[in-house]
Amino acid sequence: EKGGYEHYMLKEIHEQPTALRQTISGRIDEMNGEADLELDLPTEYLNSLEEVQFVACGTSYHAGLYAAKLFEEYADVRASAEIASEYEFDGGRDPWRTLVVAVTQSGETADTLSALQRAKRAGAKTLAVTNTLGSTVTREVEDTVFIRAGPEIGVAATKTFCSQVATLALLTVYVGRQRGTVSSSEARELLSDLRGLPGAVQQVLDREEQVRVAAEEYVDGDAFFFIGRRLGAPVALEGALKLKEISYDHAEGFPSGELKHGPLALVTPETPVLAVLTEGTNAEETLNNVKEVESRGAPVIGCVSEGMDDAGKFVDEVFEVPELGELEPLVANVYFQLFSYHVANLKGRSIDKPRNLAKSVTVE
Ligand code: F6R
Repeated sequence: EKGGYEHYMLKEIHEQPTALRQTISGRIDEMNGEADLELDLPTEYLNSLEEVQFVACGTSYHAGLYAAKLFEEYADVRASAEIASEYEFDGGRDPWRTLVVAVTQSGETADTLSALQRAKRAGAKTLAVTNTLGSTVTREVEDTVFIRAGPEIGVAATKTFCSQVATLALLTVYVGRQRGTVSSSEARELLSDLRGLPGAVQQVLDREEQVRVAAEEYVDGDAFFFIGRRLGAPVALEGALKLKEISYDHAEGFPSGELKHGPLALVTPETPVLAVLTEGTNAEETLNNVKEVESRGAPVIGCVSEGMDDAGKFVDEVFEVPELGELEPLVANVYFQLFSYHVANLKGRSIDKPRNLAKSVTVE
């Protein structure tokens, strides 16, 4: 049932190209530069939108952070990701001009469902982005977009994160085109990156052996730090979450610029740093942070775009990321998934069922 893989997590990491093909299937109209999502959000409503909030937990929250950045850029609307358990509909926002998008793989996360109730009580329009047909969330919202990743059994979310971000990128194009804030040629570029995503992820999967060897080299680190800017920041957070939940190692992710405001005190030759140095991440600036940690002796692994050979000279190990515009950080994340998997596997951890965790968290 694990299709020859030792763990569901590894199988699901390898299923990403297939999952992504399902996610985007029939949803890309490259001719017109549009996304077909079969949503009925009236154009007048979308035009009057002032704000989009993605409410979610854990990995889904990281997908929301990625989406918020895409939305601000392409849909020209204020957008944020909100941790569902902290969410309150306040701050003087106009419910009629606020769209609340619940991002939840299971569709059953209590914190997310309860945040959604608060948004609905305030009168906001609500959407769900989920993997699960018939889940509770789909009954609570006005409309749902399914990510179509297929069932995920490993507790750690992998393919569903990838498909969530891809779906949210489609939603960005959908809203941006309806609002007229993105041209058909700009939209076409993002859509063509989406089309290239399954192949780019496959190229990373084909380099798994390199990641396994790197995991062997760094497995004894005292702690692991992940850094990235802009679209690399949510990927840094996600990389750290994945590593800590399955390896039980101390791992933290930071927006690169925050390192010097405290976390740098933790950096030593025994703390590997994993950096996102791709398109969409202001990589030149992160390189300055890479130099800061290297001068404290920390080894650095960089996920580096094919197009940025220079960046590769500053790191100890390069994980090469195929060129894919704004979706390169999402491809870099696949290296982080593999790295976490192999570190945890070398330690003999219970990868598919980490201690203390459950696949869906139905208590607040
Ligand atoms: C991490 C993980 C959790 C979930 C979170 C939300 O690998 O799986 O952080 O992402 O519990 O779950 P959903 O997306 O089902 O709402």
